[in-house]
This record gives sequence, C-alpha cells and structure tokens, in this order.
Amino acid sequence: MDIPTMYEQYVMNTYRRDPQKTLVIKEGRGARVRDERGGEYLDFVGGLAVNALGHSHPRVVEAIRHQAEALIHTSNLYYTEPQAKLACRLSENSLGGKVFFANSGAEANETAIKAARKYAKNNISANRHTFVTALGSFHGRTLATVTATGQEHHQKDFDPLPAGFIYAPFNDADAFERAVNEETCAVMVEPVQGESGVHVAEKDFLRALRRICDENGLLLIFDEVQCGVGRTGTLWAYQDYGVEPDIITSAKALGGGMPLAAAIFNPKISSALGPGDHASTFGGNPVSCSAALAVMEVLLDDGLLQEVNAKSEFILGEIKRIREQLPGVVKGVRGKGLILAMELDGLNAAAVQAGCQSKGLLVNAIGESTVRILPPFIIDEQDVQQFASIFMETLQEITGS
Ligand SMILES: Cc1ncc(COP(=O)(O)O)c(C=O)c1O
Repeated sequence: MDIPTMYEQYVMNTYRRDPQKTLVIKEGRGARVRDERGGEYLDFVGGLAVNALGHSHPRVVEAIRHQAEALIHTSNLYYTEPQAKLACRLSENSLGGKVFFANSGAEANETAIKAARKYAKNNISANRHTFVTALGSFHGRTLATVTATGQEHHQKDFDPLPAGFIYAPFNDADAFERAVNEETCAVMVEPVQGESGVHVAEKDFLRALRRICDENGLLLIFDEVQCGVGRTGTLWAYQDYGVEPDIITSAKALGGGMPLAAAIFNPKISSALGPGDHASTFGGNPVSCSAALAVMEVLLDDGLLQEVNAKSEFILGEIKRIREQLPGVVKGVRGKGLILAMELDGLNAAAVQAGCQSKGLLVNAIGESTVRILPPFIIDEQDVQQFASIFMETLQEITGS
C-alpha cells in the first residue's frame, strides 16, 4: 500500500492534503524538500511559518542531538536548564515578565485566555470575563480558541461554544471600542492575520487598542503564533508598531520545527496563574527548548533576523516584475517581511498551487484566489528568482498568456 493510500485508510481526514496525492516528503535541507522519488521542491510554505531557519538547520539539529543524548523529557515537577534559559531569552527580548510553555499555538492562546480571566477577576472586577477578538482572526482549534477565532466557518457544527467572545472588524478601532463593556477582560488580535489571507494591522489600529485597553483596565493580547519569531522583520511583530501588549503568544517557528509554544507575560500579570491553575505535560520539553535556543541564537546573535526585510524587498521586486509582465493577473500583494499573499484576479488559487508544485515549487492556496508564501529566512537571491520564474510560468499557463 502506498503512503497516501495508507493515510486514506488510517489517518483521520482533517486536512486538505496534497490534492495530487503524490507528495510524500522524505527529507528537507535549507529551503528545499525532497519527495520519496527524489523530486526536489523549493519550499515557500515553510511548514506554515514553522521552518523559519529552513529545514534541518545544522545548529538546530546539533542542539536537538546534544539535548536528546542528555535528557529527552522530564516532568515539569523538576527544573531543566534549557527551559530556564529559553524563558530568560524570551523574557529579556520581549515583555520582561514570565513565560508559560506549551506545545501548540492553540494551547498558548488557551493559556493567555485563562490567565487574562483570572487576572481580571482577581485584580479588576469579578464579572470581567469576556474577550473582544477580530473578525477574520485565527487563534486555534480547541473549543475556546476556535470561539476566539472570528470566522464562523471554523465554528460550524461544534456548538455549544464557550461563552464570552465578541467580535469586531479588524483594523476598526471604533468598532472595538464599542464592543468593549463592563464585562470585557481582554482584547486579543493578531498583528498580522495569517490564516485568513495575510491582513496587516494598521499602526493606528494597534495604538488605539492599547489606549482602549488602558482606559478600560483591559489586557491586550497579541497572538504572534504565525507572525512572531522574526517573520515580519522584527523578533516580534509588535516591536515595529511601538505598541506593547500585555501578553504575547508564540508557537510555530519558536521551536525550529520541534513542537513548542509560549505565552509570554509582562511583569504585571506574570503571577496571574499559580500552582495547579494550568499545566502541560510536554510544555517546555528540554529538546524543544534547546532547539528554540538555537533558533534565537541564529536570529539574534548571528543576525539572520536583520536579513528578513531585505529578502522581503527582493521578493516584492520580483512580484512587481511579474505584475508588469502579466498585467492584471496579480491584483494585489499584502503582507510584511516574509509573510506575503498575492491576490489573483479571478484565478483559482488551488490550480496555481498545483501548477507550481508540478514544477517544483511549494506555495499555499488560501481562499478562492489568494496564494500565501512563508519562505524560510535563509533563502538567497537564486531561490527567489526560481520562485518568481516558476510562479510566473504557472500564471502564464493558467491564463494562456
Ligand atoms: C495566529 C495563529 N494562532 C494560533 C494558531 C494555532 O496554532 P496551532 O496549530 O499550533 O495550535 C495558528 C495556526 O495557524 C495561527 O496562525
């Protein structure tokens, strides 16, 4: 039985996996993956924003190997050096408070939701428990985080949903202000909405949210699960806005491919949760934390983070060239740093994804006619040129131009 057939028979079908049912990825190096038949693909999906350093970055591999030989797991009843060092590194490079470690973005957001509720009840008022989140947001698939997610289609058929979530249009500060009331405990947004099509928050919007939260005694939570860890050109997306949240949630790229997530708190709310309030068996696993320390070193100490904006500019230049040569096909480009989306004029994004894949390029169709790219930060000019030439060839094929 081949691998896709085994999936069909044994793996619950919750993903829109490779529609061509062929791409069994066997290995990855840098910006490329190889399938079981030896076919090579330039990977501009990057594990959906996980593989920021590319595949099997030698520093991450070495950190994992070294830690796995010493200790793979121990309970959070004890201390480990990688977890302590990573918490220190994250705190000192963000809000200056404490960190709770989990395994996934949804779990990090659950942590933030629980912490915000407990903090508000204990410190502000007992009836403060609701959240205002953005329409078009994505915060995860657990019941609380799918309810925080402001998209009905993700919630359909899972009711009754947990109470306490209200939605307002993204980038509409007045609507957020109107949605806030005496029961609100926090506002939660993504600085860049990833899953719903790469929508970037405006500076004034995030600044207004900070003001609204300060005036009403609310916490501001930034979900940086997809846009954090350097993706937008700064370590955290909020750092380019001059707006500091009270809680950041992180996952995806944090562990360099290992499952790891974090809810990072400012000092004011670092004690919101205490012993027995929250836990995660695998959260802060020493192998994952060692991998994350290697990610931080490569980004911050070796300076890879500083290359993100220049690489983004280079990609945008190539996309501009495609738009000039094929007028009207790419209607618009959105994004920041290395999270970008191209809005195609009436073209089927899934067909573009399939066309690119057949030529050795992985891109991600989101929505009817939007293609998202999340390339690793280690790409070079040749990689970008290869992306642009395959992407353009595919558009030419599909439009017959
Ligand atoms: C902004 C954001 N938050 C939360 C999540 C959920 O993360 P996970 O799939 O690790 O639970 C995602 C996943 O795409 C995301 O993009």
